[in-house]
Amino acid sequence: MNTFDFDEPRERRGTRSIKWSLGEEEGAWVDYPPAGGAPPQEANPLPMWLADMDFPTAPAVTAALRERVEHGVFGYTGLDDAFYDAIIEWAQRRHGWTIDRDWVVTNSGVMPAINLLIQTFTAPGDGIIVQPPVFHPISQAVEYNGRRLLNNPLRYEAGRYEMDFGELEALAAEPGARALILCSPHNPVGRVWTVEELRMVADICTNNELLLISDEIHGDLTYDWADFVSTGSLGPQYHGRLVVCTGASKAFNLPGLKTALTVIPDQGRRDDFHTTLRNQNEMFGANLFGTTALTAAYRAGEGWLEGLMGYLSGNLEYVTNYLATRLPQLELVRPEALYLLWIDCRALGLSGPELDDRLRAAGVWVEQGATYGAEGEGFIRMTIACPRVVLEEAMDRIERALG
Ligand SMILES: Cc1ncc(COP(=O)(O)O)c(C=O)c1O
Repeated sequence: MNTFDFDEPRERRGTRSIKWSLGEEEGAWVDYPPAGGAPPQEANPLPMWLADMDFPTAPAVTAALRERVEHGVFGYTGLDDAFYDAIIEWAQRRHGWTIDRDWVVTNSGVMPAINLLIQTFTAPGDGIIVQPPVFHPISQAVEYNGRRLLNNPLRYEAGRYEMDFGELEALAAEPGARALILCSPHNPVGRVWTVEELRMVADICTNNELLLISDEIHGDLTYDWADFVSTGSLGPQYHGRLVVCTGASKAFNLPGLKTALTVIPDQGRRDDFHTTLRNQNEMFGANLFGTTALTAAYRAGEGWLEGLMGYLSGNLEYVTNYLATRLPQLELVRPEALYLLWIDCRALGLSGPELDDRLRAAGVWVEQGATYGAEGEGFIRMTIACPRVVLEEAMDRIERALG
């Protein structure tokens, strides 16, 4: 029995939710058009595409925000011991990762941080390694900043994704290679990298003098059958070349509050990053509501997060059984983390656009696998972070489209 209610659908249309309002409220697209443009407006479509959850956040977070709202004065706001202590204790307790408060830098998001890290620590034309299929804004950040994308595709073997370490070593040794952006856990394929794999990555970066940017925003969304290890906890020998991007926004469903943590153990690098933030006018104060929510989530949200993971596990089991019995041509890549499922539809013999057309005609929006790199062609990515009744309806529509 879950103490928290994840079953009750919450109407999100009309709340400026980008996930739910595309096609209805034009402005919602202005800042974040997806590759391929806005999907057409279907009657009552179910959006299963974007990585935000249809659940209200932890009650402890809402209570902290409500209390702060009641105060009514929302001036420029700094950071306090409660904020840093919450982060330090969370990292230690949940991930065995000891961090120093000086290492923690806040800004408006993981992707803004990754872009600014690229600008701070690499030069135009430098090579940056990414491992597709991967969350496409990461590859875009490399290209939009005029850096060279060094792709090291993951290998998909026997239903599981692995890193290609041989190719990784070769790319890392290329002249001009300067950084590697690791997605850990990996969106969209759901892998949680083992401590051995992480050490191999960190050693390759060390041996080739690459900066290792570890995007761990999904780390707290790891299922019982995997163990998430933060790259930050591997040991001080890696600190000189390591930046960890994290925060509470994915696990506690707070991405609209625009607050992320960039953890930089090396003081020289931190100073350089602060200089970039200063030059972007990103220095004066923190996001009041984002930092209030993050503090409450890490201090008092753990029970809710466990309830969430239990509910997501149930949703995952539902989809797993549904596919096995009613859509056996579709192969689910069993996730170790993430509320996003990566499903191999290649046995249907449809192109990505054909798959998309059919699903949209049936009133369900998912992400096309090719969005994440050519390796994703014929796959779809869909969220399960919604009440079961919504998921059931989505699966029925998927069956109507592809069955
Ligand atoms: C791997 C990964 N990194 C970063 C982000 C975006 O983070 P933010 O909203 O803090 O920029 C996402 C969102 O889905 C993600 O999946």
